Amino acid sequence: LESDRISTDIGGMTRERRELIAATFRAAGEIYGSMGSPLYRVLGARCAEDPEILELASHGIEGGLPVHLFASVHYLLRRNPDDPLSGYFATLNNPPLPPEQVYPNFARYCREHRDEIRELLATRMVQTTFVVRCGALMAMMSRVAEEAGGPLNLVELGCSAGILLTFDKYAYAPKGRGRIGPADAPLTVEFELQGGALPRIAEVGKRVGIDLNPIDVRSEDERRWILSLCFPELLGEAAQLVTAMDVVAATDISFIRGDGLALLPDVLAEMPDPLCIYHSAALYLWSPEARAALEALLIEASHGRDIYRVSIEPSEMLDSQLFGRYDEEDAAQRTQTDAVEATISLYRRGAVEHRPVAFATSDYSIVRWID
Ligand SMILES: C[S@@+](CC[C@H](N)C(=O)[O-])C[C@H]1O[C@@H](n2cnc3c(N)ncnc32)[C@H](O)[C@@H]1O
Repeated sequence: LESDRISTDIGGMTRERRELIAATFRAAGEIYGSMGSPLYRVLGARCAEDPEILELASHGIEGGLPVHLFASVHYLLRRNPDDPLSGYFATLNNPPLPPEQVYPNFARYCREHRDEIRELLATRMVQTTFVVRCGALMAMMSRVAEEAGGPLNLVELGCSAGILLTFDKYAYAPKGRGRIGPADAPLTVEFELQGGALPRIAEVGKRVGIDLNPIDVRSEDERRWILSLCFPELLGEAAQLVTAMDVVAATDISFIRGDGLALLPDVLAEMPDPLCIYHSAALYLWSPEARAALEALLIEASHGRDIYRVSIEPSEMLDSQLFGRYDEEDAAQRTQTDAVEATISLYRRGAVEHRPVAFATSDYSIVRWID
């Protein structure tokens, strides 16, 4: 049977593995679609039915296989748009061709550029970052600064291009609630903030970003990769990323390459008070053991000083969808606005208090205080 032939082995992949990856593509297509990408909605659904593409994608980073594949293709097209597939990417042809007809072109392109895509999957990481995320972070940091005083000294775990480390440089326009920040800010972040008092932009002291692969925003090629991770239809976000990368380039930030958990003790020793470490869309990539080790490390480090921590990470729902362990009952109890959870924690005298404070949509465009 044809289906049996396919189900045996393509590139050494078992049927179970292929089905898991197919489920991940289906779920990711829905999520990316809801985040504003009709193209990736179609690609997610169609790739899920294509064993050859699933095999190619399987060489990417676990937990981010669909976006890794799509960004690799987007990157190659941005570098050389001279292919009919470019017509479907709004970044390269606006308005783009209807996504319903993209698939034959996409599959062909992947076949023709298989080696280059394999190379990108092996060497580039999923480091998606969005300027709009600064809105959620700014709101959290406002609360931390209220308690801890300022200027806050910041350590970001998993900083990618360092965009979030410059959250204090922008203006904010929370929907229906006026404007926060200077009139001459390089850009204004639009988002929705439900409930709570209007936040204030915290003052920032030192800025340290740790990443397995910090993006060098002075390199055109690395910038291209960050822009390729941005969904093609999000043209406004891409333009803001360009501005924010210029701001990062002009800001005094210490970028450190390596594993956040391993490097943190030395970094903490160098940081003045008040100290806030934070992470956004990064710790969900860590193993449960690594997350537990971070908790133990911070508890231990808090014997002599207070340490604040802000966590903005996918809640159970998104986590389970992306890893293909989708729990329908769990999902039914949550809404799209609960996709991301924000927690403020205080480590003090060898103990910790975790305060879940807000939920957000998966793109962080709507933030809802819960306390
Ligand atoms: C999806 S990006 C998020 C970037 C940024 N925090 C944001 O929210 O826009 C996740 C980043 O975490 C980094 N990362 C993952 N595991 C890490 C680790 N163990 N140590 C340091 N960085 C890590 C990745 O390299 C990637 O740049």
